[in-house]
Amino acid sequence: MGTDPYRSHSAAYANARRPDPRIAACIRSALTGCRSVANIGAGAGSYEPSDVDVIAIEPSWSMLSQRAHDSAPVVQGRAESLPLRDRSVDAALAVLTLHHWQDQGRGLRECLRVARRRVLLLTFDPAAGKGFWLTRDYFPEIQEWDNRQFPPLEQLQGWLGPISTEAIAIPADCIDGFLGAYWRRPWAYLDAQVRAGMSTFAKIHRLKEGLEHLRRDLESGIWEQRYGHLRTSDTLDIGYRLVVKHCGS
Ligand SMILES: C[S@@+](CC[C@H](N)C(=O)[O-])C[C@H]1O[C@@H](n2cnc3c(N)ncnc32)[C@H](O)[C@@H]1O
Repeated sequence: MGTDPYRSHSAAYANARRPDPRIAACIRSALTGCRSVANIGAGAGSYEPSDVDVIAIEPSWSMLSQRAHDSAPVVQGRAESLPLRDRSVDAALAVLTLHHWQDQGRGLRECLRVARRRVLLLTFDPAAGKGFWLTRDYFPEIQEWDNRQFPPLEQLQGWLGPISTEAIAIPADCIDGFLGAYWRRPWAYLDAQVRAGMSTFAKIHRLKEGLEHLRRDLESGIWEQRYGHLRTSDTLDIGYRLVVKHCGS
């Protein structure tokens, strides 16, 4: 089964990653008409709708142990080999997990196999997110990693067939502490507890240099000169996309 990347910082992760209600509303709306959902790469259960039948699939024991006692039933498993029968749920849902899968094409074929009506992915489009100040100016290594790990929309279309995509603008006070969540709160990235909810920071080699660069620019006012205009925006499109595949299309 390999090592569990969430084992060492599971408590910090759970603290940092809570569902944001505005993003939850976008996901819930895209699930309209679906009465049963397989939440794949479910983690601790964020974004699982409470008014439909949910079966959660998650490989990590650390994540499984963080699920609330009254959360949906969960099976330990991976996207690449879903422990579900063909066409057994209305929708397969995968939120910010695709970039972790070892074989994304195989995992998505599995989603198409088990879902009767819809496959829904919340993912990141590297082309749409390449202008994000954090990764472009301070952590280009993360951009390189993103380019390798997040499939471009054309690739998703190759695997899934026709899809629709919706840009998910990230609220300035986003509650879910994923990488882009703090686009208007730049000082937050200097906080190790905040970064503990962002698995990509653990994968790069030039973390210290990037943090020092950011701290310098914040203290000197350079960040403010370049990006202070962002303070007037309440949401920002930094490349997160809700991808919807209608089965049978
Ligand atoms: C960033 S977390 C997202 C969790 C949850 N969907 C959320 O939005 O909070 C990524 C999750 O993908 C899971 N994961 C990693 N490899 C996977 C695989 N091959 N199949 C399914 N899930 C996987 C991880 O264990 C982790 O729980």
